Amino acid sequence: MQTVHRIAELRTQVAAWKRAGERVALIPTMGNLHRGHLSLVERARQLAPRTVASIFVNPTQFGPDEDFAGYPRTRVDDSFQLEAAGLDLLFAPGVTAIYPRPLADMTQVSVPGLSQLLCGANRPVHFGGVATVVAKLFNLVQPDVAVFGEKDWQQLVIIRRMTADLDLPVEIVGGPTVREADGLAMSSRNAYLSAEERAIAPTLYATLQAAAEQWRGGERAIAVLENAAKVRLAAAGFRPDYVEIRRADDLQRPAPDDTEVRIFAAAWLGRARLIDNLAII
Ligand code: PAF
Repeated sequence: MQTVHRIAELRTQVAAWKRAGERVALIPTMGNLHRGHLSLVERARQLAPRTVASIFVNPTQFGPDEDFAGYPRTRVDDSFQLEAAGLDLLFAPGVTAIYPRPLADMTQVSVPGLSQLLCGANRPVHFGGVATVVAKLFNLVQPDVAVFGEKDWQQLVIIRRMTADLDLPVEIVGGPTVREADGLAMSSRNAYLSAEERAIAPTLYATLQAAAEQWRGGERAIAVLENAAKVRLAAAGFRPDYVEIRRADDLQRPAPDDTEVRIFAAAWLGRARLIDNLAII
């Protein structure tokens, strides 16, 4: 596995692969890798003969009071894992390579509407930062396909919309959420949980599953299901930001004849803000 920090080195290697007619798959990450990320690398390797992962803790997707400074940075361990997973190239740029000027002076990408819903309601700058950095990574790497985890379903929907709106020639593929044995979705932020909180954390998935079961059993009072889930989470010790039932493709409220509907939640447990979602039909 080759590791590059500079944009010129990245472009030279990718251009050589493209000249040889090889497809390239990109897995954008912020590092602190776990089995969820590695499953995305595995998926990428099925999709293209050449795989590039990026590790960049993107400052612009963190709000002023969020955990940018404390976000776990584990580059050495991440590199071992990526090499063992068969990755070809790791792109690990510094902040000034991606943002040579203050963000306020730079072109930014925004995906209106979708970015203000769900997580966007409590994290107003988050998805603008994600869309901007992912657009830049697409331009830098020029992948044929890019793989993103379904745990952040809203992010996946926003990136699909951005890619379509900007006519970017990149296929977007979602990778299924990877869970611990007790159901907790793998996340870098699980590292923030104390032992006591870690024991409570699987309640998030269990709560979404229970709501999904009720939906499948015929309950259609969306507000009742959402409120019951929030009450259960609060009783377990979470501080829920939201629990919402939405259409899978555009995150709008479902109509009775919709066939792809998901339940989404974000809730604080101690200093960890956990998110999860699952299909209810
Ligand atoms: O999902 C993430 O890790 C990040 O939001 C991403 C897509 C790498 C952009 O910084």
